[in-house]
Amino acid sequence: MKSRHYSPVDKLLLHLDTGLRTVLGRPQTTERPNPAEDIAEAELTEADKDLAGRLMRINHAGEVAAQGLYEGQSLTARLPEVREKMERAALEENDHLAWCESRLKELGSHKSLLNPLWYGGSLAIGALAGLAGDKWSLGFVNETERQVVRHLDSHLAQLSDKDQKSRAILEQMKEDEGHHATTALHAGGVELPNPVKQLMTLTSKVMTKTAYRI
Ligand SMILES: [Fe+2]
Ligand SMILES: [Fe+2]
Repeated sequence: MKSRHYSPVDKLLLHLDTGLRTVLGRPQTTERPNPAEDIAEAELTEADKDLAGRLMRINHAGEVAAQGLYEGQSLTARLPEVREKMERAALEENDHLAWCESRLKELGSHKSLLNPLWYGGSLAIGALAGLAGDKWSLGFVNETERQVVRHLDSHLAQLSDKDQKSRAILEQMKEDEGHHATTALHAGGVELPNPVKQLMTLTSKVMTKTAYRI
């Protein structure tokens, strides 16, 4: 296929389109079904339901942020192969986004009101990581995904055992995020310096604490 040449304005519009779709609409997903699709809804206590809603909101906000990061990086990443390698991962993040959203609805909860902020902030961080060079930006993906896996583990520990629907979604996400981390490493990602990792942990703490409430 002949590759098209996009002007900077074209590119900006394309990214804006992706951003709006992520925050407001239906981004493009893969062919995979929702892992919770065939699982029956359990009788959950109000408290379990409330907690599950809050945790799913955090995960949904995290997926919005993941989209921002991938988009930001693709704005500034230098090697086209790197972009291609991470494309499937970015699509899988859209699956996660869709699955979390539908579970949020089932639980009678809502998406984070600050999603546009999570997206915008992550877009900027992703673009910066991309500017630092591909090995760093891939290292950043690897570290992000590893931190997400840890979050998912803690959410799985908090969720009611009865809530098999939420659990199935988080289990599949955990598996995917682990793969994304490995893909980024194999594509040439490097280990990030500790202060950067700590800053990332801090940022994600702020996001998790806020999305738990709004
Ligand atoms: Fe994800
Ligand atoms: Fe991921």
